[in-house]
Amino acid sequence: MGVYQEIYDGWKSDPEGFWMDAAKAIDWVKAPSKAFFANEGVAGRWFSDGICNTCYNCVDRHVENGRGDQAAIIYDSPITDSQSTLTYTELKEEVVALAAALQRRGVVKGDRVIIYMPMVLEAAVALLACARLGAVHSVVFGGFASAELATRIDDCKPKCIISASCGIEPGRVINYKPLLDGAIELAKHKPNSTIVLQRKQQQCDLIDGRDFDYAKEVQASKDGGADVPCVDVAATDPLYVLYTSGTTGQPKGVVRDNGGHMVATHWTMKNIYGVDPGEIFWAASDVGWVVGHSYIIYGPLMHGNTTILFEGKPVGTPDAGTFWRVISEHKVSVLFTAPTAFRAIKKEDPEGKLISKYDMSNFRMLYLAGERADPDTIHWAERILKTPVIDHWWQTETGWTIAGNPVGIELMPIKYGSPTVAMPGYDIRVVSDEGEELPRDELGNVVVKLPLPPGAFPTLWNADERFKEAYLEEFPGYYKTADAGIMDEDGYLFIMARTDDIINVAGHRLSTGGMEEVIASHPDVAECAVIGIADALKGQLPAGFMILNAGVDRPVADIQTEIIKLVREKIGPVAAFKIAVPVARLPKTRSGKILRATMQKVVDGVDFKVPATIDDPAILDEIKASWSKHAG
Ligand code: COA
Ligand code: AMP
Repeated sequence: MGVYQEIYDGWKSDPEGFWMDAAKAIDWVKAPSKAFFANEGVAGRWFSDGICNTCYNCVDRHVENGRGDQAAIIYDSPITDSQSTLTYTELKEEVVALAAALQRRGVVKGDRVIIYMPMVLEAAVALLACARLGAVHSVVFGGFASAELATRIDDCKPKCIISASCGIEPGRVINYKPLLDGAIELAKHKPNSTIVLQRKQQQCDLIDGRDFDYAKEVQASKDGGADVPCVDVAATDPLYVLYTSGTTGQPKGVVRDNGGHMVATHWTMKNIYGVDPGEIFWAASDVGWVVGHSYIIYGPLMHGNTTILFEGKPVGTPDAGTFWRVISEHKVSVLFTAPTAFRAIKKEDPEGKLISKYDMSNFRMLYLAGERADPDTIHWAERILKTPVIDHWWQTETGWTIAGNPVGIELMPIKYGSPTVAMPGYDIRVVSDEGEELPRDELGNVVVKLPLPPGAFPTLWNADERFKEAYLEEFPGYYKTADAGIMDEDGYLFIMARTDDIINVAGHRLSTGGMEEVIASHPDVAECAVIGIADALKGQLPAGFMILNAGVDRPVADIQTEIIKLVREKIGPVAAFKIAVPVARLPKTRSGKILRATMQKVVDGVDFKVPATIDDPAILDEIKASWSKHAG
């Protein structure tokens, strides 16, 4: 039996002992008396009687334990041609100063603070300042537009919003302030104040009495000698709410607690990513996504690593060698990104010639997640990097790996197309739609036996019922991942597709239902369906099919342009919605359900069986013809 199997079996036979042992890596104000409290919360809670502070574990304890002069965060921004570093001591000063500014704005433990920022150092400081106060942050990705931000404002009701004057995308500066003002205007809930970082690329006007200048606020704290201690919170108190796409336009507010999140995330740094404190860890993602929360900010800092905060793209900033430059310049040991980033690099530099310019001697391993890692991309990355490439599978809901290759325990043989095996904490099963466990090698619903481990979400923000309905009710006793997959004889998992209407575009999780709601709001649209079509670079791309109202006689091209613009305005550029196809009819079952999965196969040109329940199979030919005419 390998070491992984021994540890996994050890967890299974004594989960309490396993997690109490892992909890020793955390500095508690009051250590928990036991790990799991089965009768608390919707489906149990972790470390309930523990008291702690996440910021203390990410910052203060390292300063106290001799890591003060070590780089905590390296900001590398090829898009603005700038770099800077904060040591753990400097990070603490910045976090304390911003925490004091938040206190002056009345923010106290339990209050929500929305963070709507680009990838700048101050974004990391903002998350940690909230954690220091026990305030609950909710980061909203910069690629979302006002209406999406407004939805989140109304759901979590922040007392304050921390933002910036602008973000920078290749070839354009995104003015955040109009988006922020627009969202506050749209939202029913109004925050008391905002703290806005003025960036030199584009400054913005501040509203007197509501908007405060980030730099001035922080300076005022420093001048006043601010000293803000870490606030005691219960292990079960929320650290953050992160909204993620569900099947409708109303995103789900995934709640992360303090104690369980610390224990689990810290455990992953050595056991899954194989890094030791002091090493340089880089997650090339965005603080707006869960990968950014767990592996740009909390995991590496909790573990005493140096984390890289990268403001740029894998290609075009300035070229497809930028990842190699960052790795060599900052001596990165481990990189974590989405497969789409490597597909983008491969497209620009198929032979991987640019890497030869850089010293990659410190680099040990590449980790991929966020979408299916296709074997071609993995093979290419292995050839270029000459290191193992590790696929691992997780979700915003879990916050850390469900199935992966636990490199720090044992590098398991790699099977291409599989994120490898279940991590301790996760008892993964593959079941039929009726909930019967399926034999090995059969495709079915991937579910996890309850309870979910520490770090995974205990509920949705203010929505216990939705939590139960969306995740726990369909397969009683199990968490529904909404992914379909196969487990083979060796316990290797293969994740094949989502079982709901979520699509994955460039590693970003998007709701087709949300896009349909926007398209249906166009006055000329009678009915619509959005599907995810296969795309060689981004994995999937959204494609909209719409039936126009009878009597509409405007040029179809105008309507298509308006619809594309509407989705960009309402959801944001991140939706990458650029295909709108007019159709006469949509394929449906006899009971009226749109056959989106079949449409997807028709458009992708893959084999499919005409569903027995289809109302009129001829519509599939019409879809194909419309697709060829308008988008193919
Ligand atoms: N603020 C504003 N706009 C943003 C944005 C942000 N933070 N992030 C992306 N956008 C915009 C892009 O500029 C693009 O706009 P466009 O339609 O005008 O070109 C649009 O949103 C779609 O973005 P994206 O799908 O990311 O496409 P891209 O062409 O900009 O980049 C990749 C493609 C593959 C290079 C990029 O998605 C990438 O690096 N992905 C891998 C890393 C990652 O993000 N992982 C996430 C989870 S781990
Ligand atoms: P997110 O919540 O944005 O992290 O998206 C989670 C979803 O992305 C999962 O439910 C999967 O559908 C998909 N996903 C993430 N990682 C992988 C992976 N390694 N392999 C296959 N699909 C993945």
